[in-house]
Amino acid sequence: MKHHIKNIQLAKEGQRRIEWAEREMPVLRAIQERFRKEKPLKGKRIGACLHVTTETANLMITLKAGGADVKLCASNPLSTQDDVAAALTKNHGIPTYAIKGENEKTYYSHLKAVLETRPQITMDDGADLVGLLHSRYQHQLDEVIGGTEETTTGVIRLKAMEKDGVLGYPIIAINDADTKHMFDNRYGTGQSTLDGIIRATNVLFAGKTVVVAGYGWCGRGVASRARGMGAHTIVTEIDPLKGLEAVMDGFEVMPMVKAARQGDIFITLTGNKHVIREEHYRVMKDGAIICNSGHFNVEIDIPALKKLAVSIKQVRTFVDEYKMKDGRRIHLLAEGRLINLAAAEGHPASVMDMSFANQALSARYMAREHESLDPRVYDVPKEIDKEVSKLKLRSMNMFLDVLTPEQEKYLVSWQEGT
Ligand code: ADE
Repeated sequence: MKHHIKNIQLAKEGQRRIEWAEREMPVLRAIQERFRKEKPLKGKRIGACLHVTTETANLMITLKAGGADVKLCASNPLSTQDDVAAALTKNHGIPTYAIKGENEKTYYSHLKAVLETRPQITMDDGADLVGLLHSRYQHQLDEVIGGTEETTTGVIRLKAMEKDGVLGYPIIAINDADTKHMFDNRYGTGQSTLDGIIRATNVLFAGKTVVVAGYGWCGRGVASRARGMGAHTIVTEIDPLKGLEAVMDGFEVMPMVKAARQGDIFITLTGNKHVIREEHYRVMKDGAIICNSGHFNVEIDIPALKKLAVSIKQVRTFVDEYKMKDGRRIHLLAEGRLINLAAAEGHPASVMDMSFANQALSARYMAREHESLDPRVYDVPKEIDKEVSKLKLRSMNMFLDVLTPEQEKYLVSWQEGT
């Protein structure tokens, strides 16, 4: 399979949109210019499994500018932008294996197609590619020098692999960089999740009760944006510290079984499974909307919802209506998959700029340093994180103060007091 996309003729529109996103990615653009001259990834085969979006396209183009031989597949069956897949394949010589709406079998055949090109560096989002490499393609592990992982869920899976002693090569946890999760997870997920819900349903948030499950960086972003749109916002949590933070941020915190009776719109972002399940469906209001913005489609127990339903029908694109025996209707968005990428376009380019700058610089770091690294999960080097924040601030025309010599001295002294 040389590539597998929906329609190569979509390339022109994909190209226009890739260029539009590029305008909002100044940090990645600066890295691309450097890569073009220095070729830090020369000859390296990179296998990427990411959401195929305009922002990802700019990352792939940057890696190629750095000398890498890049192949790309989708990290989610519903997140692909088909025009972008066409443009990457046709205009940039980056073979792409991704079709929006692909079934699970095709999804895995795309991951396999990338693995069959024998990548030396993996770039993953959710760790499906790494999981498959460690099961069906174990014989290729010796050729892999390192990898990067984009998201919270993927990092959790990789740390579990490291703990079990099965991780075969070093992987950098991009998600754990401050310039990633503090911005992408919070402001990116915050905005794109509401964007996805609105595009799918056209509901008004003002006056609604929104239930946000999980108050990690993503949940915080979504709760704050839902409130900003005028929604009464409830948070559910299992961690007392995060629950306390949500309360002091001004949200109501309660168990899902209680929130289920009150909510109009439910959004899961926990990284766990069956956060919304049978006991909750039984008490939800007629017309409730449920959706997920966590990585996998397990947060909402869909089989249980199906079992309770007397009928299921699609009432709008990305909106399935499940009718209960008592006549109540529950609306599931995007089959419980990432609503922001399925019904909207994922995070805006300006925030992906930082996440993908971390990706590009970490791939360069891996190419340079892999021989000194063990098969473990590593943080993004602090210098990279700092460089990304500096470049981003500069691109926004914002400048910092600098310490005076007197202040520098004060900060490392103990003699001065009251
Ligand atoms: N994850 C969330 N938003 C994304 C985007 N726009 N591109 C790639 N991955 C993403």
